[in-house]
Amino acid sequence: MIYFVALIVGLAGLLFGFDEGVIAGALQALRAQFDLSAFDEGLMTSAVPLGALFGALVGGPLSGRIGRRGALLAAASLFTVGALLAGLATEVWMLTACRLGLGFAVGVAAMVAPLYISEIAPANRRGMLVSVYQLAITLGILSAYLVNYAFDDRWRTMFMLGAVPGIALLLGMWMLTDTPRWYLMQGREAEAADALRRLHQGSDAELPLIRASLAEQTTPASWSELLSPVIRPAFIVGIGLFFLQQLSGINAVIYYAPTVFQEAGFDLGSTQLMATIGVGVVNVLMTLVGMALIDRIGRRKLLYLGFLGTSLSLSLIAIGAATGSKSLDILAVLGLIGYIASFAASIGPLPWVMMAEVFPARVRGLAMSVTTLSNWAFNFLVVFSFPLLVSTFGLGAVFGLYALVCAAGLVFTWRYVPETNGVTLEVIEQYLLSGKPLHTLRPTPHIQIHTDKPEISLQVSIELMTSVLRLSPYASSLMPEYAHLGQVAHQNQQINTALRELHARLLMENGTWNASPLSLHALGPQREVLMTFIEHLRFASSGFLASVGEGPADHVARRIDRERQ
Ligand code: BGC
Repeated sequence: MIYFVALIVGLAGLLFGFDEGVIAGALQALRAQFDLSAFDEGLMTSAVPLGALFGALVGGPLSGRIGRRGALLAAASLFTVGALLAGLATEVWMLTACRLGLGFAVGVAAMVAPLYISEIAPANRRGMLVSVYQLAITLGILSAYLVNYAFDDRWRTMFMLGAVPGIALLLGMWMLTDTPRWYLMQGREAEAADALRRLHQGSDAELPLIRASLAEQTTPASWSELLSPVIRPAFIVGIGLFFLQQLSGINAVIYYAPTVFQEAGFDLGSTQLMATIGVGVVNVLMTLVGMALIDRIGRRKLLYLGFLGTSLSLSLIAIGAATGSKSLDILAVLGLIGYIASFAASIGPLPWVMMAEVFPARVRGLAMSVTTLSNWAFNFLVVFSFPLLVSTFGLGAVFGLYALVCAAGLVFTWRYVPETNGVTLEVIEQYLLSGKPLHTLRPTPHIQIHTDKPEISLQVSIELMTSVLRLSPYASSLMPEYAHLGQVAHQNQQINTALRELHARLLMENGTWNASPLSLHALGPQREVLMTFIEHLRFASSGFLASVGEGPADHVARRIDRERQ
């Protein structure tokens, strides 16, 4: 179910990519028909990032008020109407206005879609699932390139085809519910439980966790909260990564690929176009590779690889161009393939993934608005300045500049980026709010908790195990053994179930897992659960008992027996 949802929401990315790619092929025909001035052309091309800038601004508050689903429905409707009208435009100003509207819709969708996906995804698959969105962007770009190729100068058809993903998104979102988190934020408990059950095949066990993470949110977040110093490290990560993503020059390549190939010595228009399609294909394929890696090797490692690969590849082109190398065409092709490949597997998806992870739930919507907005602003900056820079300094110098930015990305990752792989959004939030330097966040070792229903299996950190044990009055005798407990839990389904329940209840009732030691009697409703847990431990984990012999576990068991009588 979750994959299905991610696919539908991913259509928003398809809209984004299609709009980025389609103008490249349409421009030629538009120039012929409308006798465009340079200003008209510039304005019409950049109307999408400009509109998107406003869309991103509105997307946060909108997705808070009418919901993530409502915002995506609105964006899809606007996109569909905009694409059809753009195809019917008879004047340049009409086309520019339509593209502004399209951009607005793309801006809203580009912000809300990753938010939606991150809110429904389990922590250990979140990176991969949010990357579905980036995959969709690359598919959008590739389909636009193919449409350009197939329809040659029929620009009306090219624009109108954009309505297809628009309608698909509209229909798809119509079938889905909003996210459990959003329903809870609205106090709509029953719908939240219902949405969770739909997502997790019948289980709504996560409800208390989400409720707890929202517990402190009594008033709506305000813009001024975004300036709070506690949130700043998250902004540095979000905006910083988008700065690096865009200033790595990606859209100079995406928008101007044919021109770049021409500069590199490919004279034939059709060769340039084929090479451009090649760029689109590598972009899609390597995004798949990135998706496979992101939750395995983690965010930081993948970023290091990406920035290293892009800076080396760009340097190759820059050196070739600057030295007037005879084999510039080959260098350019190799360099561009290396560049797109490293970008697509890493710097493409990661800013989107991390943007959806680093902000506390309370300000997530607003903060993601601002962060996506920065993406559009940097995007605009690069696309607008590229032709000017190339004509002034030459291709070599410009690519050299982008290479430097990518090298700076290595330092940035080391200095500012946390490792959020497999860490729940709630723990990331706690870490940020605790004031510890965000980049020092690392996943704690996890125990895979298996239940008889695979969909409600989860990972529990050693930290959590410790806290669970800390709740017990026997903490002092049990604490040194928790590593063993971890192994037992790994093997034993019943303990797993009890643990999971306990975890949920702890968070629900204490709002935190760092509960201080409590006496068994003071546990209230948790008492039974803790007892079940320890009982399971006693009866089901002979391995554990054998390993500690007559030690603490037996002691615990005896005490429990006494208390129970
Ligand atoms: C970027 C876009 C870019 C695309 C290329 C996205 O992550 O935000 O600006 O065109 O990747 O695949």
